[in-house]
Amino acid sequence: MNWQTRQHCATLTPADCGKTSTFYGWIDTIRDHGHLLFIHLRDITGIVQIVFHPENKEAYALAQTLRSEYVIELTGKVANRHKDTYNPHLATGTLEILAQTLTILSEAETPPFLVSEKDAFGNEDHHTTLDEDLRLTYRYLDLRRPSIQQKLIQRSKIIKTIRDTLHAHCFMEIETPMLTKSTPEGARDYLVPSRVHAGKFYALPQSPQLFKQLLMMSGFERYFQIVKCFRDEDLRPNRQPEFTQMDLEASFIDEAFIQTLIETLMTQLYADQGQTLQAPFQRMTYSEAINTYGSDKPDLRFGLKMVEVTSLFKNTSYKIFNTIVNSGGMIKGINIKGQAQSLSKNVLQEELAKGLIPKLGGKGMTWMKVENGILDSNIVQFFSEEEKTHILTTMQAEEGDVLIFIADTKAQVVHDVLGKFRLHIAQRQNMIPDTLAACWIIDFPLFEYQDGRLYSVHHPFTQPHQPLTGKEDSETLLNMKARAYDLVVNGEEIGGGSIRIHRWEQQKIIFELLGLSEAEINEKFGFFVKALTYGAPPHGGIALGIDRLVSMLLKTDSIRDVIAFPKNRMAYCPLTHAPDTVKEEQLREVHIKPLGMTL
Ligand code: AMO
Repeated sequence: MNWQTRQHCATLTPADCGKTSTFYGWIDTIRDHGHLLFIHLRDITGIVQIVFHPENKEAYALAQTLRSEYVIELTGKVANRHKDTYNPHLATGTLEILAQTLTILSEAETPPFLVSEKDAFGNEDHHTTLDEDLRLTYRYLDLRRPSIQQKLIQRSKIIKTIRDTLHAHCFMEIETPMLTKSTPEGARDYLVPSRVHAGKFYALPQSPQLFKQLLMMSGFERYFQIVKCFRDEDLRPNRQPEFTQMDLEASFIDEAFIQTLIETLMTQLYADQGQTLQAPFQRMTYSEAINTYGSDKPDLRFGLKMVEVTSLFKNTSYKIFNTIVNSGGMIKGINIKGQAQSLSKNVLQEELAKGLIPKLGGKGMTWMKVENGILDSNIVQFFSEEEKTHILTTMQAEEGDVLIFIADTKAQVVHDVLGKFRLHIAQRQNMIPDTLAACWIIDFPLFEYQDGRLYSVHHPFTQPHQPLTGKEDSETLLNMKARAYDLVVNGEEIGGGSIRIHRWEQQKIIFELLGLSEAEINEKFGFFVKALTYGAPPHGGIALGIDRLVSMLLKTDSIRDVIAFPKNRMAYCPLTHAPDTVKEEQLREVHIKPLGMTL
């Protein structure tokens, strides 16, 4: 291999004209013009055109046998193209290589889909219609496409910027174990059976939470890691069973330290993509986010804020509202500004009220339009003039606005349904501008109540704003706020973290409140609580989802686009067929007895 003097395809510039160089790469496309044969040669840098002339008999004859995706070595002279044949779709579009010698290094089967991309010729993007599982089955071919390669190249650069920034702030990268004991992060663990310890299992980490806190207790002060995490949870488009976190932890700091550091990093990452992200980011309490946007990851790029109107309808003769208000329920509305024309009565009633709202979990939706100076709706006759005036002023409604109300006996249903409706209608009406809106959601509740017991909203290592005594009643506990913060960009949760508990008595109280017995605390977290007793510094940290962050920075449709070998929507790898069955022998070795088998 002539790697010392090799020239990469798309690194050529007009200054290289006249130079004879050797190129390596894949055949992207072939065009035979009868008397001349053109190929596009592709390597990691991009594409260049090669011309084979019949005068160069040997190379020309061999070139006739070339097929797409063959791997070749080509030596040739760099030349300017004739002006009429410039290709504006190629970075090297003014140049070509006049082939001298050709060597075929590998033949290739006909690929199951065309690897070559439209950009080279300006054709339609045929890849968008490809079945994703086919692409993932042949991911190594899919990854040959320059547009996909670019995403992974960008990902690598983004990770380098993260590393450089954190090193500049005195963070050091330390690896933590992959074969470990389960950490409670809320999802199921992926378990790894042990051969040496019969009947015992490692867990793959859902995050390095406990280890990074232990590193603080070891005195490292500033740790980070670009780390794989594993969570066996319900599948969603922005989730992968294994994903990458930028995980960090620091000692003797507070919330402002972490938030400022992440703001510095995020503004840099967006600046590198040519976008301006304004810092400091807005801080919004969890309760404001839920009350105003119906979500703890609000998309702040557009308004459509929720307004509470419950008290307006105390004495209304509109029965549905009356019943709900008088049974302690809630009514909230949003004002869809200036959309009365494009949201017809039919769309509001049939598509949205009857079609969408039940799917979002709502029982119904009331709509009103402000047209010709009056409120118009199928139920407007039930409201008094006074109520109508109050609606208009409270909702700040003007001519051309559409008002949507959701009422329910449960506030949570109102927030959830109207929150989802808000996102739906913003998308449907093209109301989302191409801007960036980042915020910190703070003051999360420490606990939530489910199925008769308390759960941590983040994780059990998060510090409450006030120390716990363990004697609090359940109302006090449910009102306690955590020193936790989530980073939300354009309605997507990019990261989350908190200031941790560093006093062992506090940590034990939390475990007890979560319903763990003394024996369970010792069994699951004994090592951790013990470590806290040997002098733990105040500390806190955060983890950003790298896949989500890169996907958002590069504006890809899915996080799968920025992962080299992702699982499909069913957590399955069509390339390797993982997960797969294993031989009984392997199971026996790790002391596992499949159903119906005797060991
Ligand atoms: P958390 O559970 O919020 O925090 O995770 C941090 C970030 O990781 C990303 N993320 C995921 N990305 C892709 N697929 C998944 N299945 C997935 N799950 C999470 C999200 C999320 O915001 N130990 C704490 C951090 C801390 O407290 O320091 C933790 O893991 O972007």
